[in-house]
Amino acid sequence: MPLHTIDAARLTGRIRELGEIGRDAQGQLTRLAGSDNDKAGRDRLVAWIEAAGLDVAFDRIGNIFGIWRGESNADVEPIMLGSHIDTVINAGIYDGCYGVLAALEVIETLRERGVTPARPIVVAAFTNEEGVRYAPDMLGSLVHVGGLSVEAALSTVGTDGTVLGEELERIGYAGDAEPGFLKPHAYVELHIEQGPVLEREGFAIGAVENLQGISWQRITIDGVANHAGTTPMAMRCDAGLAAARIGLFLRDHITRSNAPSVATIGTMRFEPDAINVIPSRATFTVDLRDPDEDRLQGLEAALADFLLRVAAEEGVELSVERLARFQPVAFDLGIVATIEASAKARGLKSRRMTSGAGHDAQMIARIAPTAMIFVPSRDGISHNPREHTEADDLVAGANVLLDVVERIACSGWKGS
Ligand code: GLV
Ligand code: MN
Ligand code: MN
Repeated sequence: MPLHTIDAARLTGRIRELGEIGRDAQGQLTRLAGSDNDKAGRDRLVAWIEAAGLDVAFDRIGNIFGIWRGESNADVEPIMLGSHIDTVINAGIYDGCYGVLAALEVIETLRERGVTPARPIVVAAFTNEEGVRYAPDMLGSLVHVGGLSVEAALSTVGTDGTVLGEELERIGYAGDAEPGFLKPHAYVELHIEQGPVLEREGFAIGAVENLQGISWQRITIDGVANHAGTTPMAMRCDAGLAAARIGLFLRDHITRSNAPSVATIGTMRFEPDAINVIPSRATFTVDLRDPDEDRLQGLEAALADFLLRVAAEEGVELSVERLARFQPVAFDLGIVATIEASAKARGLKSRRMTSGAGHDAQMIARIAPTAMIFVPSRDGISHNPREHTEADDLVAGANVLLDVVERIACSGWKGS
């Protein structure tokens, strides 16, 4: 099979262009799901998909699909490629966008080279992968696979009090198609690693064979507001102090257990939030992850025990709300091997690896053979404007995606 090559300038130019959409006056890039900035990013993506001559479809949860049906293959299950274009707050330009734009690039390259795949090829951009505004994360792909009803998803209330369904209507992306209307024959997601492994070890390509479990909770602690100057330390019911103890507990517990688990308190709000008032309330989120389901459950149980202890020792009340819970996922080893073979054929060093981040692929894996391709992230930095991947690495990853698609879509690959 001859090796085709994607248009490097077109891909990197689009990544940069999309990365300029949704910047504030300080230059910070934020395209939260369902926001005006998300709409602007979606509009640009749809314009590129249409200009490429693909059919565009939006489903009821706002997932965007660009479909290349080809000549004689419209009725068979498509190869689906994609990711997301919503971002975290003050984001980098590669997370998710790289996978979507590389998928479009692969389809355009195949068309331009006159390749006739045996199946339709689809680029997908799933709604609200990040979960920053609406929990859970990977919401659009979760709905696509039937893991959450479209009604429940549309009625999700965001951190700013908005309702996802109303926001999708407002920005014009509440589509007609029933979620899940496209069942993929296989799904491949290309993404930046967002961690340090590939760069540190000198690999160009990660063949991602699994993805760790994710547990999200929101914890509310109620104490008693009182005067910061007059209340002796032993007489306080300090919600802020209780929250701080929970953060330290998680760090120390994981360090002691020597496990690869990670724990993050990424949001924290105090009430009344005043310098000289003991906090009456602390509301914060806990993100726990581990590649092993038993260990993740053990970590959740250890946290639950510690919450009881903190409540008793600090004289506060605690309540816990679960925001997301996804078990670790194993990807399709046939596609993983195809990624390795494609990298090798291009002279690129690859290694198998586990994804620490959540991805739409972990949802699509419920309904189709799925795997992911990673490329290096400079200094392992992501969810940060310093997120960077060298152009050569972006192009290498997209070419591997192209080869994987050709191997799957143009050969007799029946799935594994
Ligand atoms: C998605 O970016 C996640 O892993 O939280
Ligand atoms: Mn992502
Ligand atoms: Mn992300």
